[in-house]
Amino acid sequence: MERNAGPFDPPREITRLREARPVSPMLFADGHEGWLVTGYEAVRQLMADTRFSSRQDLGVLHMPYEIPDMPVITEPSPQVPGLFVAMDPPDHTRLRRKLTGAFTVKRMKMLEEHIGDIVERQLDEMARLTPTVDLVKEFALPVPSLVICELLGVPYEDRDNFQGNSAKFMAKEQSFEEKMAAYGAMTAYLAELVTRKRAEPGEDILSDLARDDDLSIEELTGIAFLLLLAGHETTANMLSLGTFALLEHPEQLAELHANPDLMPDAVEELMRYLSVADIFYRYATEDLELGGETIGKGSTVVISLLAANRDPRRFENPDTLDVHRKARGHTSFGHGIHQCLGQQLARIEMRAGFAGLLRRFPTLQLAVPADEVKLRTDMNIYGVHELPVTWTQTPR
Ligand code: HEM
Repeated sequence: MERNAGPFDPPREITRLREARPVSPMLFADGHEGWLVTGYEAVRQLMADTRFSSRQDLGVLHMPYEIPDMPVITEPSPQVPGLFVAMDPPDHTRLRRKLTGAFTVKRMKMLEEHIGDIVERQLDEMARLTPTVDLVKEFALPVPSLVICELLGVPYEDRDNFQGNSAKFMAKEQSFEEKMAAYGAMTAYLAELVTRKRAEPGEDILSDLARDDDLSIEELTGIAFLLLLAGHETTANMLSLGTFALLEHPEQLAELHANPDLMPDAVEELMRYLSVADIFYRYATEDLELGGETIGKGSTVVISLLAANRDPRRFENPDTLDVHRKARGHTSFGHGIHQCLGQQLARIEMRAGFAGLLRRFPTLQLAVPADEVKLRTDMNIYGVHELPVTWTQTPR
């Protein structure tokens, strides 16, 4: 019997397509032909092959057919300085290399204790509140925002600018003009910030980059935008949607309570199961073979990481959340040269975040029926707009 697609599952049409033809032709709303890649193997092969170009303008984070007035990209477009996620080698290599030192496993390990403190402080503040509280506002959004602000040297007091504008930039329903206005406001702010850092560098990643004369102010601004956006949007949604998923799987939650050592595996499994950053796209720079299909030069190729992560050819019972699973090998941080630069940081934040939340709020539960939780189906990164939660307060 076919299982209903639940709130965390890919649509059934996508699942069916993956089984029938993991690399499928598709038609964009404007009539433009492209390809949709849903199978695990094909997704990995594609992301490892730089002949599938990442070079796009600001559309990088948006599906070409979602925004009516946005052009579909089939050839190299002008690059946005610094936005290396949307570049190919050698431009990508040059910029990514400047950042690898700042995000090494070793550097991130050194930060672990400090991130633990940020989590605890935020949980202290939440514990002072009288439930019902919104977990997104009180916990899931502040933790990664505080961490990335501190790393980059962006004043947290200025968060209204980047949280509000990045949400507008990521929302599907905004027009292209509104998105560009949000982008403009964020980059104007960041251009001023990096200019100040160039004049008076401090102890943070943006200051270190600003000391490098090889980077222009426009490039520094683009890098700052990318890191700030990637650094808080994705992790915040993993923390909130992950908590929702755990509350909806009480048996899994109980296992985690009983055995906190399961946390690293549980985080990988939540990453796989939820795949919050699902859709990416590339275009073919020449005729290319993928999964037995020939993708013509200039074709736009849409990738679903969620579909790949639920491929039964790679993961047994893929639609089941199982905190015992060894889910490493999932594609949620991407694959190949663009594989997530912040993955170690994200892992540390998620492990500390979920562990702290479970320990400090063992009786945490949803304060509304699950079907009333507002999912971010209107955004490019999955998550929840709000997660009303409650817990049993112990007398002090
Ligand atoms: C790239 C997911 C957290 C910075 C990526 C890619 C994915 C991803 C799928 C590949 C994009 C592509 O191939 O086009 C996630 C998820 C996160 C997360 C799910 C959280 C759970 C972070 C954090 C940072 C970050 C905390 C902090 C700085 C970046 C950057 C890139 C990237 C800079 C571009 C890398 C490149 O093009 O070489 N991320 N990310 N991410 N991520 Fe993350």
